[in-house]
Amino acid sequence: MNKLVIEGGIPMRGEIAMQGAKNAVLPILAASIMSGEICVIHNCPWLRDVEKTGIVLEKLGCRVRRGADTIQVDASGINDCRIDERLMREMRSSIIFLGAILSVSGRAEVGLPGGCPIGLRPIDLHLKALRQMGVNIIEEHGYLKCECARLKGCAIHLDFASVGATENIMLAAVKAEGETTITNAAREPEIIDLAQFLNRMGAKVHGAGSSFITIEGVDKLHGAEYSVMPDRIVSQTYLIGAMITGGEIMLKNANASHMQAGLSALAEMGGRIKTTPEGVYLKSRGHINSIHIIRTMPYPGFPTDAQSPFMALAAVADGTSVFVENIFENRFRHVDELVRMGADIKVEGRSAVVRGVKKLYGANVEAYELRGGAALVLAAMAAEGKTEITGTEFIDRGYEDIEGNLSRCGIRIRRIRV
Ligand code: EPZ
Repeated sequence: MNKLVIEGGIPMRGEIAMQGAKNAVLPILAASIMSGEICVIHNCPWLRDVEKTGIVLEKLGCRVRRGADTIQVDASGINDCRIDERLMREMRSSIIFLGAILSVSGRAEVGLPGGCPIGLRPIDLHLKALRQMGVNIIEEHGYLKCECARLKGCAIHLDFASVGATENIMLAAVKAEGETTITNAAREPEIIDLAQFLNRMGAKVHGAGSSFITIEGVDKLHGAEYSVMPDRIVSQTYLIGAMITGGEIMLKNANASHMQAGLSALAEMGGRIKTTPEGVYLKSRGHINSIHIIRTMPYPGFPTDAQSPFMALAAVADGTSVFVENIFENRFRHVDELVRMGADIKVEGRSAVVRGVKKLYGANVEAYELRGGAALVLAAMAAEGKTEITGTEFIDRGYEDIEGNLSRCGIRIRRIRV
C-alpha cells in the first residue's frame, strides 16, 4: 500500500512523452492470442492493467516477454480457455478475451466480471452478440461457460455503442464463417487501433471508427508487430495539469485528432493550445473560465474518462460549470474528496454543479477509481499546502510513472510506502 504526497501551488512546466493507450493495448493483447505465433507490441505502457493482462495471457499458455516499451506475446503454446473469477474481478476488462478465446478454442470459461466503483458494468450486449454468432452460453456459479463449434458471421446491432462489446464482436468475427456486420458500433480511436492490429495479423476489418463495421472471416491469422496509439485520456489529464497550475506543457506524440472534445473545452476554459507534428502544446493564460456544460457521450462526444479531471479544473474556475455523466451511473465518487479540499460541488443524480472557488486546500483524500484518482492529483497540484492521496493502486492502473512525469515538470510529488 502506498500514497502520493503532493505540495501544491507550483506551475507545471515541461515536456512529457505520451504513453501508449491503456484502452488500446488491452484489446490488442487479447487479440494477440489468435495469431498462434509471436506478436510484438511497441509503445506498450507500464501499467497495473497491462501487468494483469500479461498474467491472463500466461495462464492461457502464452509466453510473455516485457521490454522497455514493448511486450512480446508468443501464442504458439496456448493450452487453456479459462480465466478464473479472481482475475476477472480484478480486471473486468478481461471480458474482451472472451471473443478471442472462443475464436481459438471453440470454448471459454470466464468468471463474471461484476461491477466496479463507477457502475454495474453489465455485459448483456457482449453475450447477446456472441449468442447471435452461435455461442452457447451458460451462466452459473459466477462463471460463463461458453461453447461454439464454429463462430458464424451475422448482422449485429448494438443497442448502445459499447466499446467492449464492439471489441468482443470484432475478435469473435475475424475468423468466423462468413461476414459479420456491426451497426451502432463504438467509434472510439481505440477501436481503430484494434482493427489496424487485426488487419496486420491478416484479418479483414473495414469501417472501424465509423458506426458501421464489417468483418470478413478468414481462415488463419499470423504474428504481427504493431505500435499502440498514444493515450488520449492521459494526454488530457496532463494538459489540465498545466492549466490548473498556471503553467505550460508539451505532450510529445500526443494525437490532437483523438481529443477534439477535450481540446475544445480546454480552449473555452482559457488554455492556449497549439498542435504540431510533434504533439500538443498548452500554455495557461493564468485565468480559468468556467465551462457552461460538459455532457459525457460516446466518441466523438466528450469522453466520460475525462469527466473527473475536467471537474478538478472547473473546481477552481471563475464561475459555475455543469457536468452531466451519461455513460456510467456512479462516476462522481471523486466529488466528496474534492469537497474535502474546499471545492463547492453539488451532485443531483447524473448532474454535478461546480461553483468555482478561489483556492483549494491540501487534505488527506482517497482515490476510489482510476480517473477520479487522477482528478485528486490535479486538485492537489493546484491546492495550497500538502495533500496525501491513498488508493494509488487505482491511479497506477492507467497512469505510467505519474510521479516521475509530474516531478520532471516541476511538481513536488512523491510516493511513500505505508
Ligand atoms: C471502455 O469500457 C473503457 N475501458 C472505459 O475506460 C471507458 O470509460 C468506456 O469504454 C467508455 O468509453 C476499456 O476500454 C478497458 P462500454 P467498457 O461498454 O467497454 C453500458 C478507464 O477509465 N453497457 O462502452 O466497459 C455500460 O454499463 C475505463 O480507462 C451495457 O449496458 O465501456 C456503460 O453504461 C473506465 N451493456 C456503457 O454501456 C454491455 O454489455 C458504456 O460501456 C456493455 C456496456
